[in-house]
Amino acid sequence: DLQTIRVDRDPEGHDRVVLVTLNRPKALNALNTELMTELTHTLGELDADPAVGAIVITGSPRAFAAGADIKEMAEQTFADVYTGQWFGAWDTLAGVRTPLIAAVAGYALGGGCELAMMCDILLAADTAVFGQPEIKIGVIPGIGGSQRLTRAIGKAKAMDMCLTGRNMDVTEAERAGLVARIIPADELLEQALAVAATIAGMSKPVTMMAKEAVNRAFETTLAEGVRFERRLFYSTFAMADQREGMKAFVEKRPASFQHR
Ligand code: HXC
Repeated sequence: DLQTIRVDRDPEGHDRVVLVTLNRPKALNALNTELMTELTHTLGELDADPAVGAIVITGSPRAFAAGADIKEMAEQTFADVYTGQWFGAWDTLAGVRTPLIAAVAGYALGGGCELAMMCDILLAADTAVFGQPEIKIGVIPGIGGSQRLTRAIGKAKAMDMCLTGRNMDVTEAERAGLVARIIPADELLEQALAVAATIAGMSKPVTMMAKEAVNRAFETTLAEGVRFERRLFYSTFAMADQREGMKAFVEKRPASFQHR
């Protein structure tokens, strides 16, 4: 009964992978309340499911998402957005512990760029365009754009984008460190699913730890981050997957993890 997103489990036979497709193509996947509610609720459920090893979020060839729904926001007052905790539900998404892959083609603007940046690996088609154009409609980014963009690409380019509202093409975005890989548009989904399948074939708790450790780099000092990593590293030796992974290497065969 989902209206604004589609959810495919094990797409194209990829075990333990889920594909979530934003599905408001006529509005270029503008993120209205219904879509945000469906997306955050669905991702919360998938995150709690041990049978899910990795999640791909994608849009249409023309737009990953062209931002928060401006038509819906246009009439809101300060009191509406403040008391209603507008965009607060997105925090659920930042708390998802299962690896998330954004497969971006076309426009990823405003909230669309922010959604892509909340994912762990950003894969982009050669058609992808990124921007934080909120300034042009009299607001600023509201779902973490000013913070995550600055951490991803540095102050110089983040200021340029947030103050002028200009877009970045995929080449600039990759060079600046926003995008992990550029992929020909007609191969984007196939390659994103393959990346997700690779991750989903690893030990689930260990992928979660790797994600947690990398994310900690944005929250703490280097010394504390290294201590955090070391504790997680030691704890991997408490699981059968560590023994299986190393035994498989020694025996020159692929590892078969328990995914506990
Ligand atoms: C609502 C949107 C929309 C949006 C596009 N549409 N973006 N509707 N909210 N963010 C709708 C259009 O109204 C139109 O529907 C249809 O999608 C196709 O869009 P067009 O503009 O006709 O397409 P095109 O000429 O190709 O231009 C594409 C575009 C442009 C460059 C992406 O649509 C655009 O600039 N969109 C807005 C981008 C933006 O400012 N995003 C940031 C939003 S603010 P109809 O039915 O009218 O033909 C944001 C803030 C988060 O995200 C936090 C703030 C507090």
